[in-house]
Amino acid sequence: MAAFGKWIRSPQATDLAAVSFEKAFSLTKPVKKAELRVTAMGVYVPTLNGARVGDSVLMPGWTAYEHRVQLQTYDVTALLKKNNRLAIGVGVGWAVGIKGKNLHHHNRYTDHTSLLAALTVTYADGSEETVATDTTWQVYTTAVTMNDFYLGETQDYTKRRRLLGAAVRSDVKTRVVPQTGEWIREQDVIKPVAVLKTPKNEWVVDFGQNLAGYVRLHLGGSKGARVVLHHGEVLDADGNFYNENYRAAESRVTYVLDGRERDLTPLFTFQGFRYVRLTEYPFETVDPDAFTAVAVHSDMARTGDFVCGNPKINQLYHNILWGQKGNYLDIPTDCPQRDERLGWTGDTQVFCRTGAINFDVERFFTKWMEDMALEQGENGEVNWIIPHPDKQEPSAAWGDAACVVPYEIWRAYGNKKLLKKHFPVMKRWVDYMHRAGDAEFLWLGGTHFGDWLAMDNGEDNLSGATSKDYIASAYFAYSTALLAKAGRALGRDMREYEALHDRVVAAIRARYFKDGRTDMTVDGDEWKTETQTGYVLALHFELCDEKDRAAFAARLAALVEENGGRMTTGFVGTPYLLHALSENGRTDLAYSLLLQEKTPSWLYAVNHGATTVWEHWNSQKEDGSFWSTSMNSFNHYAYGAVFDWIFGVAAGIAPLTAGYAKTRVAPHPDRRLGFVKTAIETRHGALSVYWYYRGERVVYELTVPADMTVEFVLPSGKTHTLTGGKYLFGE
Ligand code: BGC
Repeated sequence: MAAFGKWIRSPQATDLAAVSFEKAFSLTKPVKKAELRVTAMGVYVPTLNGARVGDSVLMPGWTAYEHRVQLQTYDVTALLKKNNRLAIGVGVGWAVGIKGKNLHHHNRYTDHTSLLAALTVTYADGSEETVATDTTWQVYTTAVTMNDFYLGETQDYTKRRRLLGAAVRSDVKTRVVPQTGEWIREQDVIKPVAVLKTPKNEWVVDFGQNLAGYVRLHLGGSKGARVVLHHGEVLDADGNFYNENYRAAESRVTYVLDGRERDLTPLFTFQGFRYVRLTEYPFETVDPDAFTAVAVHSDMARTGDFVCGNPKINQLYHNILWGQKGNYLDIPTDCPQRDERLGWTGDTQVFCRTGAINFDVERFFTKWMEDMALEQGENGEVNWIIPHPDKQEPSAAWGDAACVVPYEIWRAYGNKKLLKKHFPVMKRWVDYMHRAGDAEFLWLGGTHFGDWLAMDNGEDNLSGATSKDYIASAYFAYSTALLAKAGRALGRDMREYEALHDRVVAAIRARYFKDGRTDMTVDGDEWKTETQTGYVLALHFELCDEKDRAAFAARLAALVEENGGRMTTGFVGTPYLLHALSENGRTDLAYSLLLQEKTPSWLYAVNHGATTVWEHWNSQKEDGSFWSTSMNSFNHYAYGAVFDWIFGVAAGIAPLTAGYAKTRVAPHPDRRLGFVKTAIETRHGALSVYWYYRGERVVYELTVPADMTVEFVLPSGKTHTLTGGKYLFGE
């Protein structure tokens, strides 16, 4: 590798202002090629001779910075001249802390930005020269006087550019590694659907879609005029701008204009929003043409597609896709707007199967799982949030991302090397659970989030009514089963863990199941006897005795019926609720839940204008009031995990072998959906499945790629083995 630079920083403290690190250099000989390698503690924007280098944004992305930071390489041959100026702007990004702001999860690594870069020129004669960061670089102020993901960004074009001095060495010790994640890029541009004058007499621009990214403006304006935008996801009951749910994330973008007409785009921040309020705007009228929303996320290829005969379910699918777009921005986040935007493991693990149907997320998760491995504790602990500089006491169903995510990524792409790499992480997590708590084969005690945001424990409780000890023990069994499957796929002897799994299941049965029912009123356990989530886990994780299966499934169905045909489940129960029903002969009820419109339901939010998936079943209530201001996101994908049921059961597509070399297609048609047409681009080609009604019969059309074998199971049980080609069946 060519010579490399030193980490440098500004000679003066710059607080939240972005600075520009610059170096002028001349070339004497004809150039063959030139490459720029860059990384930062912060986020950087590179330019060469005034032209932007590359088309990615918010690089180097977020890794476990105390362990490693990714380095990006750009071909800059075409931008070189005889006399050159390399200028790299650096903002605070994910790395730099904000003092005195008391933001929720103040997850930062350093108090100043730093840069590491090297531009290597290869001359036509084969010789090489490198211009790399050192203390001869000059540091300048920029128009960006404030930047932060939560707070927003200020660009002041009236400020004169000032030299802060020569760069000084920075003491960054972290390992610099090549990029393994996806690039982050601008993905979609959206024009306003309306410009509103709200009852409060405020101008609000509505982009019609909740997204993560920023607004690009094209404006002139007189010198010193100010434009201030605030971002929000919803309007309140009166139709006014609302963003109290952003908590400490001010999400304010300010421009101080200098009279020149230009494109104005934040360089170092992103916001989650559908609406922007023009808190200050120096013009009489608002020209929607001046506004463009730009959606930004990891550059994953789209792999899944879906449409059915029910427009509301199609909208739900749209909302799920956009939930993923808004939350797969370099790391899988809970939400993109309030003062979190963190790699919450629980949310990640419940959604990742759906995520891997919608988009090719292998690279995206390859990077994230490496950070999980780096941050795993000495005893196998897994944090709530990855990456994160602090240690957190593990929570069941969150820490289980350690087993679920590698397993699901293997299931989707069949990459054994990757599974092998993460197998030790999975094993250490299971070993951790084995040691945790007060019983050998159960996980009793500890701090858990439980069935987060479930509806069966009073409206204001964050954790649902299902016993946390039970959930922890159920996940202990589930993760151990996944570990054993992964180990067998890797050709290992997993008898020890199979035996462990059996003992955990036996201990759960002994403690929590009686007479064909769940019973959680044990030993001072404060939790309710029976919950939907209790049955969902018992059935879907195969915890109950085979002979009790029918009784358990009947109780689950009864609990749903007793609740008006609606669920009460939260983050833990919801992802598997429909599966637990359809695996036990109640696909009809699973469909009814999917199509339910009264809250709690997926379609309640759809009926209330959602364009992404809400955090709560009742984030905004019938009367337009909000669940609360403290924990209420309108772009939280967790419940969007229902798409893996639509795809896997309604359309019926499931890999029989990891990576879909062998695939089962066992559709479960229901007239209420009209038809289902879905496709997935797998590592073995594109598979599509289409079912629709013709009179009393259902017609099935399949396209099977040459490299795939499909076991096609009709609802009657009739089975056909299909290889590459187009097929038509009716029944
Ligand atoms: C996040 C969740 C997360 C939870 C942990 C919240 O603040 O937004 O989605 O999983 O905390 O319970």
